Amino acid sequence: MTGPMPTKTSQDPEHRNTEAAYGVSFHRMTSLSAAVVLLAAGIFVQAHSSSSEFDYERLLKREVPGQAQVIDWKSFNVLPTVSPPSVANATTFFFVPPGHDLESLKEKPFHIYDDEFYDIIGPNPTLTLIANAGTNPMFHEAPVWYPPTDEMFFVQNAGAAAAGTGLNKSNIILKIALSEAAAVSNIRNATGSVNVQTVDAPAIINSNGGTNYKGQIVFAAEGQGDDVTSQLVVMNPREPYNTTILLNNYFGRQFNSLNDVAVNPRNKEVYFSDSLYGYLQDFRPAPGLRTQIYRYNPETGAVAAVADGFGVNNGLTFSPNGSHAYVTDTGANKVVLGWNFSEPASIYRFDVQEDGTWDNRKLFAYVDTGVPDGIHCDSNGNVYSGCGDGVQVWNPSGKLIGKIFLGKTSANFNFAGDGRMVILAEEDLYYATLGASGGGYIGDV
Ligand SMILES: *[C@@H]1O[C@H](CO)[C@@H](O)[C@H](O)[C@H]1NC(C)=O
Ligand SMILES: *[C@@H]1O[C@H](CO)[C@@H](O)[C@H](O)[C@H]1NC(C)=O
Ligand SMILES: *[C@@H]1O[C@H](CO)[C@@H](O)[C@H](O)[C@H]1NC(C)=O
Ligand SMILES: *[C@@H]1O[C@H](CO)[C@@H](O)[C@H](O)[C@H]1NC(C)=O
Ligand SMILES: *[C@@H]1O[C@H](CO)[C@@H](O)[C@H](O)[C@H]1NC(C)=O
Ligand SMILES: *[C@@H]1O[C@H](CO)[C@@H](O)[C@H](O)[C@H]1NC(C)=O
Repeated sequence: MTGPMPTKTSQDPEHRNTEAAYGVSFHRMTSLSAAVVLLAAGIFVQAHSSSSEFDYERLLKREVPGQAQVIDWKSFNVLPTVSPPSVANATTFFFVPPGHDLESLKEKPFHIYDDEFYDIIGPNPTLTLIANAGTNPMFHEAPVWYPPTDEMFFVQNAGAAAAGTGLNKSNIILKIALSEAAAVSNIRNATGSVNVQTVDAPAIINSNGGTNYKGQIVFAAEGQGDDVTSQLVVMNPREPYNTTILLNNYFGRQFNSLNDVAVNPRNKEVYFSDSLYGYLQDFRPAPGLRTQIYRYNPETGAVAAVADGFGVNNGLTFSPNGSHAYVTDTGANKVVLGWNFSEPASIYRFDVQEDGTWDNRKLFAYVDTGVPDGIHCDSNGNVYSGCGDGVQVWNPSGKLIGKIFLGKTSANFNFAGDGRMVILAEEDLYYATLGASGGGYIGDV
């Protein structure tokens, strides 16, 4: 993850109103044409399909759930005015399509960009604000579901001025019980009803990424200053939260600032992303190693680099069967060095070879808002990433199919098994219910 992210938007209100004014009539027109298309599709299916169940299912899918709305791409293919980069850029944090405003976008946060998103959200998706931490970015990164106790672990922002974390003080690890979140899923704002507990694991310094590992949790800790090295640390997810260091150097040299970690479900090796954010957020020295992705073999202890050439590699995950690796590149946001909109705000996909090496790097997606940060797949291989406006979702071929729109940055989020998701949005913590199930490797828990 990247640093403290600004949450304000600054679209010129006059400009937005103009768009909205144009949008209203256009929007009505597109609703009408959608109905015509729907009717036509029904007729087509009736004429060409022998299965009447299929017709029915398709029509049901077209019913837009209460907390969802369709965003029509064509409604913004041509805008009355298009602002220059000094006004509309990656830090604008959300784009308001004609016929919408921020409130309407938040009111129905499941944004359908493609029919495939209906299956992801199911008939009745819900989004609930379950906690707010004022100005403290408590809900930042490393969300890991621990099934035996049905808890979600996550960490505070490391290196955020508002938290005073980084050089002077480590961030902390926290957790919630999913049962408490599920109990309020029918409420939109349930702040205060879920107990956010601190996990007492003082040996883990400035943690940022995490994943299930052999029944425990492995954290990527960024380290602190010159002397507290960046390392992979395994934590017992039950009291007393005892820890064991898994890896703390590359041939005697410090990692820069480990950012994320994922276990490949096929070969069970631990892949991790060594990023630059400890340095870019002023709590780690200038990099002593190339910014890249490594693999660690827990059987032999061998460590090897598998991919480089990123702007700034950040989040990391695998497809459900481990044949693809996804890496987010947040190079556009260099925090203290500022933004450079020519740099990546992109997701790259690799093929994971039988021998565990990576091949065929491919540009999978370039996001429209902020940078893609935390990344996870569902059980069908759809790809989700925390971006400047919330969680965005692509199908396995890289088509944007929908968003869970927050109107602010989500650095990370994770599934808690079937149909449940926890979304971290710095000061805000959300719980979502949806149709999809998590596809991440949980391992032998
Ligand atoms: C990007 O757009 C925002 C408005 O959303 C503006 O405040 C900022 O100055 C722009 N950044 C640059 C580098 O032009
Ligand atoms: C760290 O502490 C020093 C000394 O108290 C202070 O000057 C500095 O602003 C602090 N840095 C951060 C990032 O909080
Ligand atoms: C949620 O409810 C709390 C407590 O009533 C209130 O202080 C807060 O402003 C609400 N938040 C939002 C986003 O509506
Ligand atoms: C924590 O302690 C238990 C009991 O000694 C041990 O089985 C477990 O492996 C330890 N976990 C870690 C991460 O050190
Ligand atoms: C893994 O899943 C992909 C589709 O997501 C499929 O193309 C591939 O054949 C699968 N590989 C194995 C080894 O099952
Ligand atoms: C922004 O990034 C581009 C592409 O990497 C680079 O050519 C350019 O020099 C950068 N601009 C600044 C101001 O650093």
